Amino acid sequence: MSKVAVLGYGTVGSGVVKVLDDNKEEVNKSAGQEIELKYILDLRDFENDPHEKQIVHDVNVILDDPEIDVICETMGGVDFPYEVTKKALSKGKSVCTSNKDLVAAHGPELVQIAKENGCAYLFEASVGGGIPILRTLRTALRHEKIDSITGILNGTTNYILTKMNRDHADFSTVLKEAQDKGYAERNPESDIEGYDASRKTAILSSLISGMYVKYEDIDKTGITAITQEDFAYAKALGMSIKLLGMIKKNNAGFFTMVSPFLIHQENPLASVDDVYNAIVVHSNMLGNTMYYGKGAGKEATASAVVADLVELAANKGKFIDVNLNDIKAELSDTGNFVHRFFVRCKDKSREQAMELFGANIQVVETNKVFGEFAFLTDLISEKDFKNKYAVLQDTKGFLREL
Ligand code: HSE
Repeated sequence: MSKVAVLGYGTVGSGVVKVLDDNKEEVNKSAGQEIELKYILDLRDFENDPHEKQIVHDVNVILDDPEIDVICETMGGVDFPYEVTKKALSKGKSVCTSNKDLVAAHGPELVQIAKENGCAYLFEASVGGGIPILRTLRTALRHEKIDSITGILNGTTNYILTKMNRDHADFSTVLKEAQDKGYAERNPESDIEGYDASRKTAILSSLISGMYVKYEDIDKTGITAITQEDFAYAKALGMSIKLLGMIKKNNAGFFTMVSPFLIHQENPLASVDDVYNAIVVHSNMLGNTMYYGKGAGKEATASAVVADLVELAANKGKFIDVNLNDIKAELSDTGNFVHRFFVRCKDKSREQAMELFGANIQVVETNKVFGEFAFLTDLISEKDFKNKYAVLQDTKGFLREL
């Protein structure tokens, strides 16, 4: 038998409790023992909730209880969860979390504390919501040499982009819907400005390199500048617009980037819609594999947390090596990253655009936008592109092509 506690009875925490209730038999079978939920930490009272009696307000009740083997940290934020997780791991209690902010900020240190205290720190739900991507990298793909990961890693922005494209919906209305569905972060800027996807990209980069990639070092662009005009051009090109997290190994190390990309319809990532995430991993023996599922939301995220809980309960007293180490990774300069770019400028800049980018550019036309000149460049490095774009007059924005 393992006794467990859930910290935070919000969207994900209440989802974890739901999974433990509704799938009790399956959870126990999977853990090879009975899992008993002993405490739920929350500041609030939950009168008439079936778990009312398990609610505690003082985290020390949980930390000081020698019967607690596993803690699910589903609080959100960084400072308080960080302190609590350190204390729990120092006492030999294993911790699993959905908290990517905490993993991205302090993951290697927390894994080290777990190692020193004969317990484990797992964070499956921190990337890709319910998709078991971290466990797959740690087990099924551990023997592979992974050279790239490209993924739709944020459910909220994928939901927004899908609705803007399909229903021509307005940005703020769709964001509100995503918040109501429990997809968005407490501060949705984190989603729409690309911070959340950067944290997930940093976690993935760290795990495939065995080093520590700081999310602040990732070159990042969010989706706030994307307009209905961009979707009209994308449609004319037979492409979708998706926010991608990208990791590409090269001779010197690896590039990482988070940015909206134009994706050709034939690419399976182009048809990943709504709150779904998808992650394409390329490795040397296996080639491409793609992992697809709900990237946010109560039950999907909670299911990933419970997968960790089960593994931790089945491995009590053991460290689990997740390949996250406190060795700073040196990222390659994204200035040398090469793609084609889609550029919009006012029609009067047409000649200048052709002089700068060459006569071989692919002109893009749509009957939905007037007075503009839009085109796709040849393959060009980020550095060269930005130098040219900086001098192009009357620009209206650009997108990268996958
Ligand atoms: N806000 C996040 C998203 C939640 O939309 O993907 C899951 O990490």
